Amino acid sequence: MPESLDAALTEVRALLLDPALTRAVAAGRRRGQRPSVVRAELRPVALKAGTRLQISTSDGVRPYTRNVVPGADADAAVDALLAEPFGNWHVETAVATLQLRVTKSGEAQVHRAAASRPAAEPERHDRAKEYLLDPGDPIFATIGGNAAKRRQVDAFLRALAATLPDELTGRLRVVDLGCGNAYLTFAAYRYLTGRGLDVELVGVDVREDQRQRNGELAERLGWADRVSFVAGTIADAVVEPAPDLVLALHACDTATDEALARAVRWDARWILAAPCCHHDLAAQLRARPTPAPYELLTRQGILRERFADVLTDALRAGLLRAHGYRAEVVEFVDSRHTPRNLLIRARRTGTGTDANTGTGTGTGGRAERAPGGPGGDGPQAEYRQLVDQWQVTPRLATLLDDRPTPTGGA
Ligand SMILES: C[S@@+](CC[C@H](N)C(=O)[O-])C[C@H]1O[C@@H](n2cnc3c(N)ncnc32)[C@H](O)[C@@H]1O
Repeated sequence: MPESLDAALTEVRALLLDPALTRAVAAGRRRGQRPSVVRAELRPVALKAGTRLQISTSDGVRPYTRNVVPGADADAAVDALLAEPFGNWHVETAVATLQLRVTKSGEAQVHRAAASRPAAEPERHDRAKEYLLDPGDPIFATIGGNAAKRRQVDAFLRALAATLPDELTGRLRVVDLGCGNAYLTFAAYRYLTGRGLDVELVGVDVREDQRQRNGELAERLGWADRVSFVAGTIADAVVEPAPDLVLALHACDTATDEALARAVRWDARWILAAPCCHHDLAAQLRARPTPAPYELLTRQGILRERFADVLTDALRAGLLRAHGYRAEVVEFVDSRHTPRNLLIRARRTGTGTDANTGTGTGTGGRAERAPGGPGGDGPQAEYRQLVDQWQVTPRLATLLDDRPTPTGGA
């Protein structure tokens, strides 16, 4: 039932200035009008000097964040934002959530609900140490996810934080491949925008029902203009322009190879991929004799499978190095939280060697690179010796179209 826009905005104002505010987002535009910024996000932050209202706006090119003192300063800043012709407001407080959409006829369509969980306290340093993204963060009330998943996602974000350079500023284009329920997608958006970055994030999953569900969640969070979802395969989904940062958390089996290959073709600056199950090389090892003197490694099924896991990820990292990335395999979370706790983390150096050179700001806007062979002799030679000896063809190599020509082995 449409309501008077003025009355609804007065209600929004009261919530924005309420000490119980946890987060609010304004985005979109009213028919025939254009706000001076494409989105604004407000939330309380606990600083040494006391609580402040943090206001982050983006003009579509770069973000701008300021902290205003509660009282006259916050009142004036909030009034200025309410005067902008935003199409949507999403406001969360400790006790209520309000969503306002301005209709084509200039009225307000308002949805009010009780908060489904207690709100997080303003971010504090002591909590930030335990979690990068507080499990009480209001986004979890919308996106769900159990404690184990939140722990896993938080650990993944920590690895991301350790990968991106501190001085990174500006726009960052990100893709989450095999995003599933998009816990990581939304959490990464929350974390990266909290760093002051201007983020565009695309989640890709082969399931159309996930695209629909995740798109609705993005609307509810007020992020639909920056976080979008595509139903398609990792290998072929249209993601334009090419992303700077590629994420993949537990994409099944060789879907991780598809994610790595796509990232290389995109020339992505950073890649973080936590593999899931490994079946491809395990099957290849089963199908051929083991080279001497390694029979003890593969005679028993469980050892062969574990060895295949190690070989798969070692070869993946090797191929990334051969393609101009500095790549490492790390444990990103304790195995208590998931047995699939390895992470392949890579940073583009462009040298085809292990040189540690690439830092800087996100750029994006690149075209997808055509398939081709790896560069540089060192990493390439290491990789070839290993696949030649074991007579295996990793899926990633096939996808990158640089299948080794075996020169020996059993
Ligand atoms: C184990 S779930 C992980 C989901 C999510 N990343 C997470 O960690 O919660 C793997 C997801 O990858 C998707 N998937 C698997 N292979 C894919 C492919 N080749 N292209 C696109 N999506 C794929 C599946 O539909 C599923 O949603």
